[in-house]
Amino acid sequence: MQNLTLLAAIGKNNELGVDNHLIWRIKEDLAFYKKMTLDHYLIMGRKTLVSLPAGALEGWRRPIVLSKRPLDRYCDLSCFNDLSSLLEFVSLVPEEFIVIGGSQIYKLLLPYVETMYLTEIQQEYPEADSYFPEFDKSDWTSEVLGDYRKEGADPPYVRKKYIRHR
Ligand SMILES: NC(=O)c1ccc[n+]([C@@H]2O[C@H](COP(=O)([O-])OP(=O)(O)OC[C@H]3O[C@@H](n4cnc5c(N)ncnc54)[C@H](OP(=O)(O)O)[C@@H]3O)[C@@H](O)[C@H]2O)c1
Repeated sequence: MQNLTLLAAIGKNNELGVDNHLIWRIKEDLAFYKKMTLDHYLIMGRKTLVSLPAGALEGWRRPIVLSKRPLDRYCDLSCFNDLSSLLEFVSLVPEEFIVIGGSQIYKLLLPYVETMYLTEIQQEYPEADSYFPEFDKSDWTSEVLGDYRKEGADPPYVRKKYIRHR
C-alpha cells in the first residue's frame, strides 16, 4: 500500500526490545522518530502502546491500536480488532500511515509496507525478547540517510531508507 510506511530501530540480529521496552537510548534517533511521526497516523500493537512513556502520544495525530481485546481505557484512540478492517481503513484514507511496532505488528504489516526507515544499530543484544521480522533485501532498494558510526555514536548505527521494488 502506497501510504503505509514503517519506522523501526533494530539491533544487529534484528533485536527490538526486552520486557516490553527498548534496549537502547539514542537521543538523535528519538528526535528523528518524533520528526517522522508528529503529523501522521500511527499504527501500533497494544503492547507497544502500553510501553510508551506518559505523554508520548501528545501532539500525535490519532494513534491507531491493534488489539483483540476491548481497549476502553484508551477510548480516545482508534482501535482495530483485526488486520482486514485496519487495511480497509488505510486504503480509504488518503494520508500516510506509519507502522511503529512492535514485533507482532511489524510482522503482520510488513507485506503491505512500501517504505521503511530502519535505524540499524551495529551491536548485538542477547537479552532481547522481541525481534524485527526477517525480510529479503533483494526486494528493496536502500539508501543510507546517515552513517552515525563516523560520528562516534554509542552505540554505532546507520539509518537507511528502503523502498520496495514494484
Ligand atoms: N525498536 C523499535 O523500533 C521498537 C518499536 C516498537 C516496539 N518495540 C518493542 O517491541 C516490543 C513489543 O512488541 P510485541 O510484539 O511484544 O507487541 P506489539 O506488536 O506491540 O503488540 C502485540 C499485540 O498486538 C495485538 N495484535 C497482534 N496481532 C493482532 C491481530 N492480527 N489483530 C488484532 N490485534 C493484534 C495483540 O494485542 P492484544 O493482546 O491486546 O489482543 C498483541 O498482544 C517491546 O519490547 C517494544 O519496546 C521496539
